[in-house]
Amino acid sequence: MAEFTLPKNSKIEKGKTIAAANGAKNKKVFHVYRWEPDSGNNPRMDTYEIDLDKCGPMVLDAIIYIKNELDTTLTFRRSCREGICGSCSMNIGGTNTLACTKAIEEYKGDIKIYPLPHLPVVKDLVPDLTNFYAQYASIKPWIQTQSPPPPDRERLQSKEEREELDGLYECILCACCSTSCPSYWWNSDRYLGPATLLQAYRWIADSRDENTGERLDELEDPFRLYRCHTIMNCTNTCPKGLNPAKAIGEIKKLLVERSV
Ligand code: SF4
Ligand code: SF4
Ligand code: FES
Repeated sequence: MAEFTLPKNSKIEKGKTIAAANGAKNKKVFHVYRWEPDSGNNPRMDTYEIDLDKCGPMVLDAIIYIKNELDTTLTFRRSCREGICGSCSMNIGGTNTLACTKAIEEYKGDIKIYPLPHLPVVKDLVPDLTNFYAQYASIKPWIQTQSPPPPDRERLQSKEEREELDGLYECILCACCSTSCPSYWWNSDRYLGPATLLQAYRWIADSRDENTGERLDELEDPFRLYRCHTIMNCTNTCPKGLNPAKAIGEIKKLLVERSV
């Protein structure tokens, strides 16, 4: 029989509250999703009150402040702190985004932080991206050629050919788009999702690549590509301002063009 409620062990409970030190004048409350797989306990929301006068301006600064000053058990990913590595992606205030490029002052009231949605959770704010990376590897994200390379130089591109990669090469594989896509939520075992499809198009659009036909063959599949229903969540969410839905549309256009 269909179940319409969450299993008991996945219901989010109220966790602990840590208040800011006495005398703090510029306070902000963060509610943070916590789950420790080894504890056997349900996930919970812990509440941290932060003195913003002691913390940097971005949401990631607040999370690092919590880790360093309030609760060392909080687990999250981050590396570059400048929107380049893609590792601090999470759901902040209801939107998938990068914690390091979102200013705390952009949010009115309390801020709720969850891991990226619809992925298994490793711990706290760390999602399991194994399937996401396997899908990325499946599109062979490197140049494939058949012709021998020029003997005296690299394979060059004209300025115009290089510009074809604008809006594609900037993708940092943060997974914000794929985990905001309803089609990906329900079919992530078979649908490649917007991030991987944008990357697939990045190699199709590369004038130096000579395996376009094979790349298109691999994508021509009711699940791998055609589960995209142009809902556009991906494009609305991308923290780098990219347009995965357009890239998917370009792949579909190429498939139509080669069939007529
Ligand atoms: S446009 Fe396609 S990939 Fe983007 S959110 Fe919609 S269904 Fe998903
Ligand atoms: S397209 Fe944007 S949201 Fe999607 S993985 Fe790349 S950078 Fe992240
Ligand atoms: S820490 Fe690298 S993108 Fe945020």
